[in-house]
Amino acid sequence: MSTAGRAASAIARLQPDRDLDGVVALEAAFSSPWTRDMLLAAIDPSRRGHAYIARSGQAVTAYCIGQLVVDELHIHSFGVHPGWRRGGLGRRLLNAVLREAEAVGVTSATLEVRRSNTAARRLYEGAGFILSGVRSGYYPDPPEDALIYWRHQTDHQPATTVSPRP
Ligand SMILES: CC(C)(COP(=O)(O)OP(=O)(O)OC[C@H]1O[C@@H](n2cnc3c(N)ncnc32)[C@H](O)[C@@H]1OP(=O)(O)O)[C@@H](O)C(=O)NCCC(=O)NCCS
Repeated sequence: MSTAGRAASAIARLQPDRDLDGVVALEAAFSSPWTRDMLLAAIDPSRRGHAYIARSGQAVTAYCIGQLVVDELHIHSFGVHPGWRRGGLGRRLLNAVLREAEAVGVTSATLEVRRSNTAARRLYEGAGFILSGVRSGYYPDPPEDALIYWRHQTDHQPATTVSPRP
């Protein structure tokens, strides 16, 4: 889908009743997808779930599932619908997630990504994440190393709103 043909996606906190089916559907396209129960457990407010989505109309176009651990944000899952990629949505969602976390006192964020996932690595590196370690053979199906990234607020300006593309 061309950028011009896509309605703008609005970013909001994930509402389970409204958004979970869309997130499960997007997850199902990835290797080792999270199930509905795993996602529900991850977003549980009592476990400090930090989950945001982008919506175009009723459709979930992107999602980020994370968890606040003391003053850290651990991002567990992040994805953009294939039809909405390469239009700046991933960057906009990531910035929003970081900004909301910083607003509640988070000073560091971390995530893992497949070594071969160039698109995601560039996205994260562009947002100030720094390659900090490797878990050899961490991922199954297909087996691959996980690269561990961290982003420390002391190294960066706070995350800012990114203007939507014209
Ligand atoms: C990775 C992903 C989230 C990027 O989302 P997106 O909305 O397409 O990303 P954006 O358009 O905001 O791009 C932001 C930056 O990411 C990088 N990027 C995104 N897609 C890229 C690609 N296909 N190739 C290389 N770099 C890419 C670029 O640096 C880009 O900046 P630029 O447009 O100025 O070059 C998306 O490709 C996706 O959902 N992939 C499958 C799921 C996944 O890999 N999730 C991460 C698991 S840890």
